[in-house]
Amino acid sequence: MELLNTTLKQIFLKAFRDSGYDDDVTIGECAIANFGDFQCQTPLLLAKKYHKSPLVIANDVVAHIDGEGIITNITVASPGYINFFIDGEYLAKYLQEYLIDVADARKPTGKKVLIDYGGANCAKPLHVGHLRSADIGESIKRIAKYMGDDCIGDVHLGDWGLQMGMVIYAVWEKNPNLVYFDKSYTGEYPSQPPFTMDELKVMYPNISQRAKTDEVLHEKVKKITYDLQQGRRGYVALWKQIIEVSKKSIKQDYDKLNAHFDLWLGESDSKNYQDEVVDYVIKNGYSRVSDGATIVDVAREGDKAEIPPFMLLNSAGSALYSTTELATIVQRDREFGVDKILYVVDNRQELHFVQVFRCVKKINILKKDIDLQFVGFGTMNGPDGKPYKTRDGKAMGLDDLMQMVVDKALEKVKQSKPDYLDTEIENISKVVAISALKFADLSVLRTKDLVFDVDKFCSFEGKTGPYILYTITRANSVLAKADDCDAKFTLSDEDRRLALCLIKFTDSVASAYEKNAPSFLCDYAYSLANEFNTFYGKSSIIYEKDSTKKHTKIMLTKFTKNMLQKCMDLLAINTLEKM
Ligand code: ARG
Repeated sequence: MELLNTTLKQIFLKAFRDSGYDDDVTIGECAIANFGDFQCQTPLLLAKKYHKSPLVIANDVVAHIDGEGIITNITVASPGYINFFIDGEYLAKYLQEYLIDVADARKPTGKKVLIDYGGANCAKPLHVGHLRSADIGESIKRIAKYMGDDCIGDVHLGDWGLQMGMVIYAVWEKNPNLVYFDKSYTGEYPSQPPFTMDELKVMYPNISQRAKTDEVLHEKVKKITYDLQQGRRGYVALWKQIIEVSKKSIKQDYDKLNAHFDLWLGESDSKNYQDEVVDYVIKNGYSRVSDGATIVDVAREGDKAEIPPFMLLNSAGSALYSTTELATIVQRDREFGVDKILYVVDNRQELHFVQVFRCVKKINILKKDIDLQFVGFGTMNGPDGKPYKTRDGKAMGLDDLMQMVVDKALEKVKQSKPDYLDTEIENISKVVAISALKFADLSVLRTKDLVFDVDKFCSFEGKTGPYILYTITRANSVLAKADDCDAKFTLSDEDRRLALCLIKFTDSVASAYEKNAPSFLCDYAYSLANEFNTFYGKSSIIYEKDSTKKHTKIMLTKFTKNMLQKCMDLLAINTLEKM
């Protein structure tokens, strides 16, 4: 369907042209509701060019407007604004068609997009950074799907480099007699892993910390990593078990966050391409050896900051994070034929992606020219403005973070629903808590940092998840009590703002898509919830006597509820029917 914005623009373009001004025109919302629904400020921009006052231009244009049945009450205001309203009947009809139209996904774009998000590491607990990637990535994926892209979400687990050598070392240190470490062993390995996920979560950070200062330990880990990558049987068997145990636990965490991946591939899954890519780069003379490591120069003339070389192999000859990254792009090109890859990763990894993308371009290895985009995000900080840490200085784990939010949500729900059963309160609190955390995470412009503030996140007022959830349940309770009839849908003045807000969804979702920034949808959901609550405060919906008015208000309530629900689905936040 043709959007109202487009229709208005055409009417205005014609009027400007007919008045002798052949220029582009912009139409925006009118900031003061009493003056109009929309406003055109273009006359102000043309004054200089035509040596005329904006008022004269505005009056010329208004005299040529042909908006019969669409535009009403058009006026010129000083210093040259054109304000106007949309005809009520036209708006009512448009709104109904619009809502049917936007309910379904847009026409397929034919574009295949892979979204690389989540990025949890095996054997390690998820931390705050992984939370942001999961939240933002899942929403970007849903938005892109809605906009018609063919999307694949890949979790891209950290399951290959040095970190795997560290875990294997940790298992060895704890029990060197395990059969996995016996080189001469040729039998089957035990089917049960010699550790639990909880044990792994402690073992890995411990070694990782020690390896930072212990040179000997670091070298041992490098050797194990090399042997693993060369296929040493015992290490491979152990590594498979580490992955299996980790995946199960990571999946549970992502399920809680409503992040669902199409692909559960990891860095190691690019194995089949690694040797080929490494050989290709070396054979074609793109690399050189420096301090034993094989590197590719990616700095360019005119770089403002130093861009260090891309690391193809470390001095032990092992594949690194950068190697698997490169091989994974080749894999995605060959196996999935993608047109675009979005990397939803912490801003602090930007340099890594600059190096990788440059290397891909330099070595000219892809079948297709893939649009590679780094979709970076800021950090979740503590009250001190530094990345959020636990009291003992470790990166804040997702579990601890969630617990804090769940506790706070429980407290708030208990306060507002003192007569509810404990089980009811508990169930509501869980959904409220996740909505609080996810909405807070998503509502800040992606690239910006945010401060973890559990009180603010869980508040039922302001731009928060619980506020949107509460507004949906409020609409639901109206709908549960309202007995509707089959009257006409006609908008009165008090319904206008809400109707106009409902049709703004298209612009918001388009901005969210274009900028890979779900925050635009959060802003929209918040403004719609506000508009609905104002409408609710002013109207008596259930007790309205006039059947036409009543029907219209009930329909608007239903439209709002559906629209808020749609936004929350695109943000991957669960809602409640009742609260
Ligand atoms: N596992 C990485 C980390 O925790 C994030 C992976 C992001 N994705 C990627 N293709 N590099 O830092």
